[in-house]
Amino acid sequence: GDEDDLQARPPVVTVMGHVDHGKTRLLDTIRKTTVHEGEAGGITQHIGAYQVATSLEDRERLITFIDTPGHEAFTAMRARGAQATDIAVIVVAADDGVMPQTVEAINHAQAAAVPIVVAVNKIDKEGANPQKIRQQLTEYGLVAEEYGGDTMFVDISAKQGTNIEGLLEAILLTADAALDLRANPDMEAQGVAIEAHLDRGRGPVATVLVQRGTLRVGDSIVAGDAYGRVRRMVDEFNEDILEATPSRPVQVIGFTSVPGAGDTFLVVEEDRTARQIAERRAARNRAAQNAQKRKRISLEDLD
Ligand code: GTP
Ligand code: NA
Ligand code: MG
Repeated sequence: GDEDDLQARPPVVTVMGHVDHGKTRLLDTIRKTTVHEGEAGGITQHIGAYQVATSLEDRERLITFIDTPGHEAFTAMRARGAQATDIAVIVVAADDGVMPQTVEAINHAQAAAVPIVVAVNKIDKEGANPQKIRQQLTEYGLVAEEYGGDTMFVDISAKQGTNIEGLLEAILLTADAALDLRANPDMEAQGVAIEAHLDRGRGPVATVLVQRGTLRVGDSIVAGDAYGRVRRMVDEFNEDILEATPSRPVQVIGFTSVPGAGDTFLVVEEDRTARQIAERRAARNRAAQNAQKRKRISLEDLD
């Protein structure tokens, strides 16, 4: 069962903050790849998820990162990101300061009772004032350790790669001090769909985060009112993998329709069961929508 055989799993870290404060650039520097350059206009429009290997005191450690968009239109994604995460890294540009989506991200993390690490970014820029960020954030209950509080602030430059190790260390220290990160890998997988879309060649593609159990190619899966059989799984390097253990983000190909972002998923014994669960949920959603429509029509009648 779920309580048995709990094993250590990597922390899941969601990177949030105001638009253009450097979230994607930071993850790019951490991964040393070029996702950032490949983004249309440099605006993140979906949730990306990556697992990286790092080391603390010579011990190799995995960290799962979820990137979120800072644009104001993406409030729901920040809320979902905060729900799926163990730790929130709030990125604040030191030359720009605390902005509306910085505050919103902090609110989501605090509402989800998720520990916060503040990455004060762009310290290479003229006009950068990392101390001012610390002052501003006291207003939101985030008091830096050096001022007697318990929030870790780490000054970085994602562009120049300054102090990235310091940030990774702060994340791992937070994980070790504040969290009990364990899950049972020996059960049918459960987790959450963090992003999903229809791909021209591959059909519905869902990025899922495994939270418990192990997801395998061949599994019957249901997410919200979508279901299917896991035909392929690919990792952040677009390489095929056959199984995904807890905290692993992975792209799943094989759903017959596109799951909703934020939907929880589970693996069931048989394809038939997956289909039945999905169809029951779809019927319930349709009924709710129709009830909503009827209510709207009758309200219009009253006007
Ligand atoms: P959204 O996804 O749109 O919310 O933006 P983001 O927070 O992911 O910001 P992004 O990584 O796209 O960076 C925005 C701009 O700031 C880019 O031009 C980056 O190259 C630049 N940038 C990011 N980090 C730094 C930094 O440490 N120093 C400097 N000088 N520029 C940076
Ligand atoms: Na951007
Ligand atoms: Mg981005």
